[in-house]
Amino acid sequence: RNVAVVLAGGVGQRVGLNTPKQLLKIAGQTVLEHTLRVFESHADIHEIVLMMAPGFLDEATVLVDRNRFGKVRAILEGGASRAETTWRAIQAIEGDGCRLLFHDAVRPLVESRIISECVTALDSYGAVDVAIPSSDTIVVAASSPRGEIVRDIPDRTRLRRGQTPQCFRLEVIREAYRRALADPEFSRQPPTDDCGVVLRYLPDVPIYIVPGSERNLKITYPVDIDIADKLFRLGAATVPAPGPDVHAARLAGRCMVVFGGS
Ligand code: CTP
Repeated sequence: RNVAVVLAGGVGQRVGLNTPKQLLKIAGQTVLEHTLRVFESHADIHEIVLMMAPGFLDEATVLVDRNRFGKVRAILEGGASRAETTWRAIQAIEGDGCRLLFHDAVRPLVESRIISECVTALDSYGAVDVAIPSSDTIVVAASSPRGEIVRDIPDRTRLRRGQTPQCFRLEVIREAYRRALADPEFSRQPPTDDCGVVLRYLPDVPIYIVPGSERNLKITYPVDIDIADKLFRLGAATVPAPGPDVHAARLAGRCMVVFGGS
């Protein structure tokens, strides 16, 4: 079973509004509704677990009911960090053969093609990332008494920018997090994403890369809201109509979502 875990546990400090950025409206709907719809409509996704920012669970429930997002099995409270939110989701999901697709709620323009390729890649790999080439040159900075200086300029042809979904067989990501949580260094310097946790704690597990897309942008700063809005208005989001097997998937077996994982 393929479970999409939509990570909406953050508050969006860098956008700087009172409302978490996933609840801002663009092109007539909240960012979160756009994102949920992509997964709800995808035939390869059987269930959705929504991890929501504390204090906004009621709002999320209203939004899920209003849109009749029938694949949403649970709406749970996120943690203080992204990693903690991920770990809470992992603890809430049980079932052999489960595959998890962790997706940032604030990437509402993810294409159906990316999700399909991730699901296919999980047939052969225990961990899958989504990334695009870096158009900018990336410089490694170091601090100096007068500010930052360039320490290194890595070869751009080998650099990629990571996106989501990041996808794993349940047993892989669970084991990586178990090891991470047993390591005191993890809380001092946590990796910024879940593939980083697998890379550090299960280095023998290859992480396959599915090509992402420039449109699959993460709403991080105020300007990203305008860009995403424009892309939606240009019809850039390719949301497929529900296929006939969506209903069949609902009736078939499911991974069990255990409510109230902490
Ligand atoms: N996220 C989460 N739980 C957290 C922190 C982040 O589920 N404790 C989610 C966010 O809701 C978002 C995704 O992870 O969908 C990517 O994180 P980011 O863009 O950093 O979101 P925020 O943490 O909300 O933003 P900021 O760092 O500006 O506060």
